[in-house]
Amino acid sequence: MNLINKILAVPAVVLALWAVAAQATVTDDIAKRLEPVGQVCVQGKECAGMDVAASAGAGGGAKTPDDIIAGHCNACHGTGLLGSPKIGDAADWGKRAKEQGGLDGLLAKAITGVNAMPPKGTCADCSDAELKATISQMSGLK
Ligand code: HEC
Repeated sequence: MNLINKILAVPAVVLALWAVAAQATVTDDIAKRLEPVGQVCVQGKECAGMDVAASAGAGGGAKTPDDIIAGHCNACHGTGLLGSPKIGDAADWGKRAKEQGGLDGLLAKAITGVNAMPPKGTCADCSDAELKATISQMSGLK
């Protein structure tokens, strides 16, 4: 290697090291900035301060109709959003029950979804029995 090449090679190495160090700093900064925003509590893990979400969410025990309504159905059925039958609107629910063949017919529609009504009303881990109890509670139908 002649002298000129040596002179050129040294700054190139220094520059490369600087670039790596600078990138590491930026990456650390980005990681820090992202950190506090979203802390995810994964099912099955103990997550301090998230007891309510853990017990109301998925996980072992059976869900009550109130849990399911609060967590899923109320978003639409609470106000009749997108033309959904409102909770407690006996006339609308009664008409639908007649068309679909009672509570079981409504359950079948709720499982598959219909128009703007998503399959299982977004409660993917709800059992059929849980959905049926929920529909019964929302509609007043037995
Ligand atoms: C994203 C909004 C939305 C959510 C969330 C939702 N629904 Fe619905 N639901 C609808 C709409 C809209 C309709 C009316 C569909 C139609 O007749 O066009 C409907 C209709 C229904 C019907 C009647 C079906 C029929 O054949 O008339 C049942 C039963 C029902 N929903 C159950 C539930 C249950 C149970 C949940 C919660 C687990 C739920 N829905 C969550 C929007 C929603």
